[in-house]
Amino acid sequence: MGPAVPSRTHVTQPHSLTAPNIFPDKDVAPGFAQSVTDYYAAMGNIGASIMTALETMLQVPQGTLQDMASKKFLTMMVSHYMPTVSDPDNNRLALGAHKDIGLFTMLAIEGNDGLEIYVDDEWLAVAPKPGHLLVNLGTTAEKITSGYLNAILHRVNNRSGTDRYSVAAFYSLDNHVRLTPLPGYGQKGGPDKETTAELVAEHAMAFIRSALPPAGYEAGRHVFDAVLEDARTEHALVQQGVLPVA
Ligand SMILES: [Fe+2]
Repeated sequence: MGPAVPSRTHVTQPHSLTAPNIFPDKDVAPGFAQSVTDYYAAMGNIGASIMTALETMLQVPQGTLQDMASKKFLTMMVSHYMPTVSDPDNNRLALGAHKDIGLFTMLAIEGNDGLEIYVDDEWLAVAPKPGHLLVNLGTTAEKITSGYLNAILHRVNNRSGTDRYSVAAFYSLDNHVRLTPLPGYGQKGGPDKETTAELVAEHAMAFIRSALPPAGYEAGRHVFDAVLEDARTEHALVQQGVLPVA
């Protein structure tokens, strides 16, 4: 889910990457929409605090990152993983290995603790602590610091065959922000033309390609290509001032 947007956004702005949130029917899941909406708002506040902490740690002026995330581009994924035992040796995982794309991710986990991170050539289990959020950095953080901050490779390996529930809130910079290095962090942050939304779209496509069986990827390829093209078109229009910043 993301911020509430008018239901016609995707019609009036055909290349917009946003669409209204879709919740289960109230009769099926009473209170769900409100709970998730409240949680989303809380993640926005916590995310702003983490951003301030990052600015302090990186020794950049307060507000540097906040200004790059003025639209509070926060997306959230509420997931139920099926109780299927993973088989990493045969590349059957609850969630394939990937790096997150945005600036950072705030993750809450309940149930199965299958999260693993890749450190020094091995996969290490990360046990969630009740009442705590796991925070990991994304590729955006890596790019704007020329690799000083590290986006960790991670996956979900369901070892016990039990249900897993997670809520991941992804805090990203505004769509129009160019991923050039912050002051004092060199010049290797990525090509100047690259913006966060292009990065998101391209990583999403790479992730889909690795997560789906080849036949499934080929079957949906026209859709994936269209999404990527939409992302590029939107950015071109934003850069030209034709579309407002998302
Ligand atoms: Fe992730």
